[in-house]
Amino acid sequence: MTDLHTEISPQEACTHASVEKIYGIASLAREFSVNEKELFQYIAEHHIPLKSNGDITGKHLQTVLAFIEDQDHRIDDSLCDDSDAIEFSDGRIKILQDDALGFLRKLPAGSVDVIVTDPAYSGMNNKLKLGHGRIVGQYANKGAADGKWFSEFQDTEENYAAFLSECRRVLKRSSGHLYIMFDSFSLLSLGSMVRKYFDVKNLITWDKVNIGMGHYFRRRHEYIVFATNGNNRKIRNRSFPDVWRFKRIHRASYPTQKPVELFQAMIYASAEKDFVVCDPFMGSASSAIAAIRNDCRFIGCDISSKAMDVASTRIATYLDSGKDIFQPKSMAGEEKVFWK
Ligand SMILES: C[S@@+](CC[C@H](N)C(=O)[O-])C[C@H]1O[C@@H](n2cnc3c(N)ncnc32)[C@H](O)[C@@H]1O
Repeated sequence: MTDLHTEISPQEACTHASVEKIYGIASLAREFSVNEKELFQYIAEHHIPLKSNGDITGKHLQTVLAFIEDQDHRIDDSLCDDSDAIEFSDGRIKILQDDALGFLRKLPAGSVDVIVTDPAYSGMNNKLKLGHGRIVGQYANKGAADGKWFSEFQDTEENYAAFLSECRRVLKRSSGHLYIMFDSFSLLSLGSMVRKYFDVKNLITWDKVNIGMGHYFRRRHEYIVFATNGNNRKIRNRSFPDVWRFKRIHRASYPTQKPVELFQAMIYASAEKDFVVCDPFMGSASSAIAAIRNDCRFIGCDISSKAMDVASTRIATYLDSGKDIFQPKSMAGEEKVFWK
């Protein structure tokens, strides 16, 4: 039995069906959190040939994986015992207070269609200190108890590798798309690691229109790495550009809050109705609002209780009234956006 996660590179992931490898049904069921009997039943109904020992050949793996990845109840099943999970009135959104890695490890393999995320890199906290290392400006008193803007993910190479490896595990092999945001510092230090786990397709620039802080040239942009899980699923339209102009949020209610339009662009390009969108560094839930606007389901987490309070109030209010209390105005301004 071949272990799917250690032996298949992202580039291989889409083509391995042609490779003569053997896959055990019991292991597949365990690995992807599906019922073994249901898997056997599917295989029998579709006349998928089995080896004498009950294994399937690599040739039929994609068909079987497509069936497994369609079992949408797997996420609910895996989180149903989690007393920390908050579910909303529409039954399509679930958030929980958790560490990104711990949260991803709870999700079944191949269960998420699109990851959109804006991690809390420690590099940015350090570089943004002004004066004598103090954090200044509007967020000085809003951040975490340790005086930082927000709790950081410990983005050592080792931790970041574990994070990317989990993202790869939970994304659907057949169709998964990934969007990870980077500031200029973290892009140079960690960005290239994404290539080891994903098939990187492009680097998108978010032009924030108005300048922010910075000692040497004031910052006006961030990056988004777009990658697939080794599959060749296209984005919605080949004419979409890779520079996106959305105004930064001035005097945000939550430190580092991003415009919902930024996530709307990612989700619109990569998701269809009912797709599962995941954000393991959810913050104020801008990505969740974008998922709702795109008729998608959403699962997300944040380590901070403050983020959870903000996110749950924001999502509940949006579902009840259609009003986004944390970003009442569009940040696209008069810009033409590609989802209209
Ligand atoms: C850059 S902010 C995300 C902002 C969000 N995109 C928004 O629009 O509000 C990063 C978030 O990651 C959270 N965070 C930090 N370390 C984390 C960890 N280990 N696991 C999960 N979340 C974490 C922080 O609390 C913060 O809310």
